[in-house]
Amino acid sequence: MNDKQLVAITAASQVQDGMIVGLGTGSTANYFIEELARRQREEGLNIRAAASSVVSGIKAEQLGLPLIALEHLSSIDLYVDGADEVSPDLTLLKGRGYDLVREKLLARAAKQFVVLVDRSKQVGRIGEKFPIPVEVMPAAWRLVQASLQTSFQALGGRAELRQNAAKDGWAITSHGSLVLDLVFEAVADQQPETHWLNQQLNNIPGVVEHGIFVDLASTVLLADNGKLEEIRKPA
Ligand code: 5RP
Repeated sequence: MNDKQLVAITAASQVQDGMIVGLGTGSTANYFIEELARRQREEGLNIRAAASSVVSGIKAEQLGLPLIALEHLSSIDLYVDGADEVSPDLTLLKGRGYDLVREKLLARAAKQFVVLVDRSKQVGRIGEKFPIPVEVMPAAWRLVQASLQTSFQALGGRAELRQNAAKDGWAITSHGSLVLDLVFEAVADQQPETHWLNQQLNNIPGVVEHGIFVDLASTVLLADNGKLEEIRKPA
């Protein structure tokens, strides 16, 4: 069993009868969906699921998990998803997979948000390994790009439109938005403070959502070569 499977199976063992469970997106979330479906099939676990993307919804459907559409939800019991980066205060960077909007909605709606990572996802600060994905209204992408570059000029902020996987067009999210990948060219000790950056991004018109998840994770399940660690949000 690899580390992604280990955290996914551990999270699935915490799911209880009657829960509404949010399904994340990505390779780790896929292992979780598979294990949840196995528990439903073999143990008669009775749950309903809410998908964070078209991809996770189709996977859940193929495995026989009953789905509830987002518009029928006002809260969920548990949301389980991977992340691209996790900082020491459990702030996350997400969105490499273009599914930010529904992911953040489910994370916010959940009584518990369990994040599944391996050691490679642990960082000292958000943005250390990946650009910050900023989802934008298609018609507003140039205006948002200009706002980002003006707001973060002093830090060497640069935002590039994300290409699709084939590199022959632009990436379109499952919400129908474009993505600007934001990087800071300033030296390491002049990188923006994450909570401040989160607020700045929240205030730019035309930004639909962005990949910084502040104060949303309840628990991080982290595996490192088969060793499992559970990191809880500080009280
Ligand atoms: C998608 C995400 C994923 O959870 C994140 O990219 C991690 O993916 P993986 O589990 O494949 O490493 O945020 O938007």
